[in-house]
Amino acid sequence: MDLPIYTPKTTAELLGIPSKALRSALDQHSYSAQDLWALRKALRIHPRPIGHRKQLFLNFKGGTGKTSLSTSYAYRLAELGYSVLLVDLDSQGHATKCLGYEGEDFEKTLLHVLVRKAPLSEAIQHTPLPNLDFVPSNLGMSTVDLALMPMAGREFKLRKAVEEIEDRYDVMVFDAPPSFGLLNLNALMVAEDLFVPVLPDFLSFHGLKLLFETVQSLEEDLNHVLDHVFIVVNAFNQTFKLAKEALAALREHYPEYLLTTLVRQCTKFAQASSEGVPVFISERDSKGAHDVDAFLREVLHRLDQSRVQAATDARAG
Ligand SMILES: Nc1ncnc2c1ncn2[C@@H]1O[C@H](COP(=O)(O)OP(=O)(O)OP(=O)(O)O)[C@@H](O)[C@H]1O
Ligand SMILES: [Mg+2]
Repeated sequence: MDLPIYTPKTTAELLGIPSKALRSALDQHSYSAQDLWALRKALRIHPRPIGHRKQLFLNFKGGTGKTSLSTSYAYRLAELGYSVLLVDLDSQGHATKCLGYEGEDFEKTLLHVLVRKAPLSEAIQHTPLPNLDFVPSNLGMSTVDLALMPMAGREFKLRKAVEEIEDRYDVMVFDAPPSFGLLNLNALMVAEDLFVPVLPDFLSFHGLKLLFETVQSLEEDLNHVLDHVFIVVNAFNQTFKLAKEALAALREHYPEYLLTTLVRQCTKFAQASSEGVPVFISERDSKGAHDVDAFLREVLHRLDQSRVQAATDARAG
């Protein structure tokens, strides 16, 4: 990944301070991600705490935007000052590619961690953003499901593995493959927040039923309850009648989970991920970048609301 360079205007926006305040702290024509991080420390500008959250992007259906959304969401969280670990769970290694890396260049993936018992910290890689790390994936990961099968406590391997490092990150973002297997079950057992990207079509709509049944059996059989489920509509094109009908069906059947933000169809967004450049580096002003930012802010707002609610309940109870 190239080191992102920001204009003074963007730097001030990311820090949430007036341009004048930025100039008096550090007057430059451009700012690197390191400058941004150093300024955050010097000026004590930290994002609103959200606890240490583990967030999984999952849909058993393929091609709904899990990777595009999870990687740009993780990247944007890091830009806003959160420390983030992006974990690529998919042997296609697409999340790794979206950050600009080739999975095959890395020896250690989650395979080593889950099956060969290597500590998770050994598989962690750094990016030019001081507060964005990732765990890469490559084709070797395609054997994980089979390898886990005979193991004792096979559903809990990932949960155990993240214990070592969970305090280091504000947010861990997991990008799941489109499959229904032990690896994804492991990911669900770690997740506190589940993000379900859906396309506005009826195949996606019907696919949600299986996902919600799985989540329910997880609660009943393995005693794991998710804090939040967020459905996010991706690649929305309002000129398609079918898209509007599918959105209406989602609003009717899943009102409590459906986010208001719609991530619109955006060629520049697709292009950025195919070139392995986060959309916030190459196409900051695109619809894709705008919508992912709005999606992120809606999620942060919802997390905040439930923290306030939990605190109120605790006081009352
Ligand atoms: N908002 C969007 N606008 C236009 N194209 C998009 C959008 N979101 C994703 N795409 C494109 O759709 C394709 C599938 O997206 P992506 O790889 O993120 O989905 P996925 O759910 O991770 O797929 P898989 O199930 O294979 O892991 C990619 O080519 C991506 O560039
Ligand atoms: Mg993917």
